Amino acid sequence: MIRVNEHYLKLQAGYLFPEISRRVSAFAAQCSKANIIRMGIGDVTEPLVPAVVEAMHKAVDEMGGRASLKGYGPEQGYDFLRQAILDNDYKSRGVELAIDEIFVSDGSKCDTGNIQEIFGLENTIAVTDPVYPVYVDTNVMAGRTGAGTGNGQYAGIVYMPCTPANQFVPQFPSKPVDIIYLCYPNNPTGAVATRQQLSRWVDYARQTKAVILFDAAYETYISDPGIPHSIYEIPGARQVAIEFRSFSKTAGFTGLRCAFTVVPKDVVAYAADGKAVPVNPLWNRRHCTKFNGASFVSQAAAAAVYSPAGKQQSRQIIELYMQNAATIRRSLTQLGYEVYGGVNAPYVWIRTKNGMGSSEFFDVLLRKIHVVATPGAGFGPSGEGFMRLSAFNRPDKVKEAMERFASL
Ligand code: MLT
Repeated sequence: MIRVNEHYLKLQAGYLFPEISRRVSAFAAQCSKANIIRMGIGDVTEPLVPAVVEAMHKAVDEMGGRASLKGYGPEQGYDFLRQAILDNDYKSRGVELAIDEIFVSDGSKCDTGNIQEIFGLENTIAVTDPVYPVYVDTNVMAGRTGAGTGNGQYAGIVYMPCTPANQFVPQFPSKPVDIIYLCYPNNPTGAVATRQQLSRWVDYARQTKAVILFDAAYETYISDPGIPHSIYEIPGARQVAIEFRSFSKTAGFTGLRCAFTVVPKDVVAYAADGKAVPVNPLWNRRHCTKFNGASFVSQAAAAAVYSPAGKQQSRQIIELYMQNAATIRRSLTQLGYEVYGGVNAPYVWIRTKNGMGSSEFFDVLLRKIHVVATPGAGFGPSGEGFMRLSAFNRPDKVKEAMERFASL
């Protein structure tokens, strides 16, 4: 008799964003005239930039020619893209990496979800609270946790609260952990970690023989010159950190799909006999076994993001989104909300008024002003009483949403 993977039965709710969209669709079905403004999921609104579109047309033409057709590519990605990543994202910041430490993929959601496979099930994971749900749910599915505790959390995971009191950068875990998920600029709070804070985490991981899984999907939104864009800007990080980057938010690739993961050859995990095992070959083995590479067209498009025109055009779009973030921050501050994030990240994190629960506030926003935001509690108990607003939108819609907030 076929048996189910019981670990899936521990999952306490549907995945956050489909859940929100289900609630929004149910409302839209009831109230078909509502002009809903969506500031929930962080999905881009601006079209691909001309440099990317041009590169894609060229790549499609190559795929349409017998002599230039590309079949299966290297699983780890084409060297033209990996080299562009090394030169533009890392060398330019004084970080030396080797080309075989870069693994191109079709998304950071998949990579941050899949990476746990190369680590033993006995490892204890630490996550921030609130947290991007993928890190938690994939460990639940793998069987690295106990049962749900009823508040969206799971037994066996060490949660590190992130609140205004610690500027959304956690204290070290209260008990020993092996795998530490950090995401800065942070989804959902929009906070950033300073060089000093990241250095403390790197030292901690080195002392405790843990690994940091560093999600830097939003690094391009950093405006403060003192904030590190990569964890490898911190000395010693290449011994203990794996970094995830994506073209989704950097260049509007949410529908096109291209990302990469950096696994330095110095990162090790330990075998039962105590032997240190480099994890780069393990990730390479997993990648080659389960993945056939991102499409040639996506990779050609991603490489074009690094061309002079691609950089300049993408920067304009980032600025548009960050002007939206500034509009949200300014308007909601004026309306008396406590506002965080939105300066070095495309997410603004606000406290609800009068202690209203975030699910209740979600309903108020949807029903009264037809604005969708993400309830903070969906990211963990420390998100209760907060809402996340995404700055990915058209400026006129953001302005209108803010006018509607004023009418509440
Ligand atoms: C979000 O809204 O948190 C992101 O768009 C989700 C994702 O990147 O998967």
